[in-house]
Amino acid sequence: MALFLEKNVLLRDFTTLKLGGNSLYFSRLQNTQDLPELKEKLKELNVPLFILGGGSNVVVKDVLPEICTLKIENKGIHIIEENEDFAIIEVASGEVWDDFVEYAVIHNLSGVEALSAIPGTVGASPIQNIGAYGKEVSEVIHEVEIFDMVTGKVIMMTNEECQFSYRDSVFKRFEKGRVLITSVRYKLTKRQPIMPTYTGVQEAIQKFELSLIEQERSGNLSAMSLQQKIRNVITDIRWSKLPKPQVIPNVGSFFKNCLVEINVAEVLKNAYPNIPLFYIDEKTVKIPTGWLIEQVGLKGYQRGNVGVYEKNALVLTSNGNAQTDELFTLSDYIKDRVKKEFGLDLEIEPEIFYL
Ligand code: EPU
Repeated sequence: MALFLEKNVLLRDFTTLKLGGNSLYFSRLQNTQDLPELKEKLKELNVPLFILGGGSNVVVKDVLPEICTLKIENKGIHIIEENEDFAIIEVASGEVWDDFVEYAVIHNLSGVEALSAIPGTVGASPIQNIGAYGKEVSEVIHEVEIFDMVTGKVIMMTNEECQFSYRDSVFKRFEKGRVLITSVRYKLTKRQPIMPTYTGVQEAIQKFELSLIEQERSGNLSAMSLQQKIRNVITDIRWSKLPKPQVIPNVGSFFKNCLVEINVAEVLKNAYPNIPLFYIDEKTVKIPTGWLIEQVGLKGYQRGNVGVYEKNALVLTSNGNAQTDELFTLSDYIKDRVKKEFGLDLEIEPEIFYL
């Protein structure tokens, strides 16, 4: 077969948390034409499939059943339709997300610049509906192409069919390993980007523009688009709050922020006047989980080889020598403390591989 099958590969080497046990079979997908053959091979081996992108939003257990891991590495970025207002770009699922953002910014296309510097691959972007600084990728996803590992069919799903909501989509509800995202089509505009309204971003952009004017005076400036300015500023803000996975193993936010009904938020506001509340719609309020964890005194808390990041309590870290079980002991402890203090149930944000 065109796909090369390796045996006994340690998945910790392919996850940004540097956690995860042994995969009996392991292969890399470089060409989606190989998928029908893979489907047959899996039937023959009689093992389930685990689909792995950049490994930046997954927590893999220490001991795994017999599985075949497929690392998605197909490449390609093409504009498939455009007019004077917008462009539709088809991006292979194995492309690095931030390379696509860079491509969009270079081509003066707007819509993803505020999602700069998010680790991971394009194929993972619809699954948890990646979001940052007031933007969610669902706002620019036009269609998602999938390969159904059971029927062998290629299906194009519309944005609506993906059922996007906060850090969620229909892809989280399919049977594990059944649906493989092969490419994503994004619709980006040729208009000026919308300035993020997120606290601090506009001020940071103004400051950045002033520094560019200074550089211009000294004669070493090349013109920079607004998309590029937003990208630069967001990248800086992101890395000032979040640990780089290459330096400190992590998967970004380990918990989702809490979505609660307005009456629950009001009760909490009475008891905790400083609680930050973000009104989402007439029914829902978002409470930052980082704040809740900080209030129970766990920001910067270390337990063996794992801990809570000292600059952002929403991020759990490992020192590279941890076992996944240690991380779950820590996350259970955090959930317990928050539940006791605030009565709220925290939800883990990354995908857990093998419950
Ligand atoms: N906060 C605290 N203490 C903390 C962390 C946060 O009090 O330790 C408070 C902040 O003061 C602020 C609020 O929480 O009022 C929000 O904090 P921040 O802007 O840092 O964002 P976040 O809620 O921690 C979310 C996303 C991030 C995304 C940022 C920026 C989720 C689960 N996380 O984090 O996404 O980058 O907003 O938009 O929604 C990810 O998903 O992996 C991720 C990094």
